[in-house]
Amino acid sequence: MIKHILMALCFLSLLSCNDNSNLVEVQIPEPEVIVQTNFADPRSFKATGLPFKLSPVEYSFDTFPDFIDGKTFEFHYSNIYLSYTNNLNKQVTEKNWETKKASQICKEINPEDTTFLNFAGGYYNHSLFFETLSPKKDTNPSESLNNAIDENFGSVENFKKQFILKGINTKGSNWIWLVLNNDQKLEITITLNEENPLMQKSTVKGFPLLCLDLWEHAYLLNNNPSKKNYIEAFFTYVDWNKVSERYEQLTAVNPQS
Ligand SMILES: [Fe+2]
Repeated sequence: MIKHILMALCFLSLLSCNDNSNLVEVQIPEPEVIVQTNFADPRSFKATGLPFKLSPVEYSFDTFPDFIDGKTFEFHYSNIYLSYTNNLNKQVTEKNWETKKASQICKEINPEDTTFLNFAGGYYNHSLFFETLSPKKDTNPSESLNNAIDENFGSVENFKKQFILKGINTKGSNWIWLVLNNDQKLEITITLNEENPLMQKSTVKGFPLLCLDLWEHAYLLNNNPSKKNYIEAFFTYVDWNKVSERYEQLTAVNPQS
C-alpha cells in the first residue's frame, strides 16, 4: 500500500514539474564587479576602531588607468585614507564624539584644533571623493542639477572648463569642490590641506556635491604625472547619478542638514 502511495506522489510530482504555470523564475546573482587584478581587493582593507569605516568602493584600483594608475590609487586608499580613518576613530573616542556624523564633526570642529580637523577632513573628503568615482563612464547630471549648473555656469561644459582651469592654477595641497553654498547657489571653490566647505575655516561655506583631491599623492605616482590630464580625466569617471542624488536631497529636504 505504502509503495503505491509513493509511486502516486512521484507521478503527481512529475506532472507538477511539467506544468509551466507553476514554474518560479529564479534570479541569477550578478557577477562580482571587482575582477582579478594585480592589486589588492579594496574590500580587504578595514579601519581599526569605531565608528568610521572606509567607504567601500565597487571597483578595482586599476579601473581608471587614464585618470589614476592602480599603484597610486591603492596607496591613496589603503594607506592615506585608511590612516585618516583610523586616526579619526581615535580622536572621536577620546572626545566622546562617536555619535556624530562626519559632516557634523566638520561643521562643529574647533578651527584651532588642527590635528582633529586634519583627521576629520581627511576622512570626509576622501570618502566623498572615492564614492563619487564610478567605472560607469560619461554619466550625466539629473535634469534639476543640469538646470542649476546651466543657471550658475552657463552649461555643464562651461562648469567643467572652469573647474579644470581653477584646479590647474591652484598650487599646493588642496581640494577642489562643487558646492551648494549657503545662498543655494552652485559654486566652485578650493580648500587648503584637508579642510572642506563644511568647516568654519572655509572661505566658501556650503554642502559639497563633488570633490577632487589635488594633493600630489593623488596623481604623482602615475607614469605621466600631469595635473592637467588628471583633472580632465576626472570627469570621465564622475558618477553624476550620485552627485545628482546629493543635490536632490539637499534641495528637497533641508539644504543645511
Ligand atoms: Fe588624498
